[in-house]
Amino acid sequence: MEFMKLIEDRHSVRAYEETPVEQSKLDLILHAANRAPSAGDLQAYSIVVVCRPEVRQALAVAAAGQEWLAQAPLILVFLAEPERSSEKYGGRGERLYAVQDATIACAYAQLAAHDRGLAACWVGAFRTGEVQRVVGASDGQVPVALLPIGYAAESPFITPRRAISELVREV
Ligand SMILES: Cc1cc2nc3c(=O)[nH]c(=O)nc-3n(C[C@H](O)[C@H](O)[C@H](O)COP(=O)(O)O)c2cc1C
Repeated sequence: MEFMKLIEDRHSVRAYEETPVEQSKLDLILHAANRAPSAGDLQAYSIVVVCRPEVRQALAVAAAGQEWLAQAPLILVFLAEPERSSEKYGGRGERLYAVQDATIACAYAQLAAHDRGLAACWVGAFRTGEVQRVVGASDGQVPVALLPIGYAAESPFITPRRAISELVREV
């Protein structure tokens, strides 16, 4: 899809068909995430691919009971790995860069999913420890975002945005 159309077109979707996401599409989404920039090219994050229904259900519970999450045939869990960044960048890498690395990778994945005709929704409301337990993450792997992906079973709400003049100032 043409890039600006992709950006305009993408909206959060919270209801999905049961149809699984094709392996070729998943591969492409992961490839897009892997192409995201990262501090020092350290890629201080990892991604957990969740397809099993019981794990999706456990993630929905961990996500403050957002039951619709379990409907998505695929959930990607983005984990920041602060230690990878702190080795080179100290506290700034640990506190900031690792989270940014994981965030950008997730944003790329979300756009790539949309480009392939899939829907997704960024989910940030979850209990950290519970997500770590469900996906078998270590204490040093910090969940940053859950990204349920699937074929849309609803038309998304068209969301407004603040005026650019409100967001931007020149110095
Ligand atoms: C950091 C972050 C956390 C979010 N957490 C949730 C969430 O827990 N549950 C949810 O339904 N949507 C969540 N969203 C999606 C936003 O609600 C959504 O992106 C916003 O309302 C704009 O709508 P749009 O994505 O359709 O443009 C989150 C988005 C971001 C960026």
